[in-house]
Amino acid sequence: MNSFIYNIPTKVYFGENQLGNLGKELTRFGKRVLLTYGGGSIKRNGLYDRVITELRSAEMEIFELSGIEPNPRIDSVRDGVKICKEQGIDVLLAVGGGSTIDATKFMAAGACVEHDAWEFFGANAKPIERALPIVTILTLAATGSEMDTGGVISNLETGDKLGRLAQPLLPKVSFLDPTLTYSVSKYQTACGAADIMSHIIEVYFNTQKDLYMLDCMMEGLLKTVVKYAPVAIQEPNNYEARANLMWASSWAINGFINGGKRKAWSCHPMEHELSALYDITHGLGLAILTPRWMKYCLDPTTVDKFVQYGVNVFGIDSKQDKMTIAEESIRQTELFFFETLGLHRTFSEVGIKCEDFELMAQKACRYGDIKGFKTLTQEDVVRIYKMCL
Ligand code: NZQ
Ligand code: ZN
Repeated sequence: MNSFIYNIPTKVYFGENQLGNLGKELTRFGKRVLLTYGGGSIKRNGLYDRVITELRSAEMEIFELSGIEPNPRIDSVRDGVKICKEQGIDVLLAVGGGSTIDATKFMAAGACVEHDAWEFFGANAKPIERALPIVTILTLAATGSEMDTGGVISNLETGDKLGRLAQPLLPKVSFLDPTLTYSVSKYQTACGAADIMSHIIEVYFNTQKDLYMLDCMMEGLLKTVVKYAPVAIQEPNNYEARANLMWASSWAINGFINGGKRKAWSCHPMEHELSALYDITHGLGLAILTPRWMKYCLDPTTVDKFVQYGVNVFGIDSKQDKMTIAEESIRQTELFFFETLGLHRTFSEVGIKCEDFELMAQKACRYGDIKGFKTLTQEDVVRIYKMCL
């Protein structure tokens, strides 16, 4: 293993009926809270009222910012920064999925600087040295934003969707109540499952060979998603399924499975250009891309990893020849995304057009070739996009 630092001190309240601890946790940071949320799901499922009750009983002063979009926009971040500065906010409470949490992270950081929040992104990004404290209540198992240092923001003016990692963005406290995901649609449940799978696959497919313990952990997480995502889709109120997916989402990306692996992620940079240009759901883009990227990477030098994946995650018979097992492992991945989860299988089905491939590939490689499991040039990215048509 390479050397690494693992430092994820987010305090997690997991399970039902934990929201009673919300006021106690928030008041550690002060009394003035900015409550952020998305397009209204929390009002429809009753969570908003529960949160307000908790905040009032803790005698918090409540400020609100709603309407944070899926693929959250920098304009929403700017609105939040303005409220934080004008109202002297002490702590931010994000209630929602990855989009709400991500946007809130950059509001919290933006509140501590004079420059515009978009300057946190891109090749000449400004440092993030401080952020106001962030508390989250997660409502969708997918991104892991509740327990990681990252966030991804879209800028409609520049056509960019850019990610940023920084330790101050890590939530101080996260509430993970699986029952809050009962109202997530079948489609969003499926997209969330694809996103969790992808976070693991991006790390698991690696040429480093001395990571047995981490590979076992990752295979366990992948099997968890393969087992429980279909259950959650069929039985939205199945606690066991929702709980397993929720905890898997956090552990897929909180840094634990990395173990100092230094290879870049591959499908995520390719996907972010899809959601930047077409505003599609992140997990859907990943589901379409991942099996094609796998096919592109499979050759005699990489076959062993596919064999390990196929045998240990999908239970493929290990007695067959390596290439047969590897190809079957990709077929199983496709079956899982497109048949079991019911997601669209091609770009054509979701309106993504080939005339944009060059531009998207150029942007996906804006920092140079993608040095992942296999190094991808701009031309490679175009070829993979074409395989998705
Ligand atoms: O906006 P509301 O009305 O709340 O509805 C949302 C939204 O329409 C709905 N939803 C969420 N919880 C619900 C619910 N509907 C019913 N019941 C509930 N309990 O689901 C829709 C999608 O929500 P969103 O937050 O956009 O989904 P997700 O959690 O998948 O977040 C996606 C964003 O996170 C970024 C993605 O790129 C994308 O912008 N990512 C963030 C990462 C990170 N912070 O580390 C890593 C990821 O790879 C990813 O890039
Ligand atoms: Zn993702």
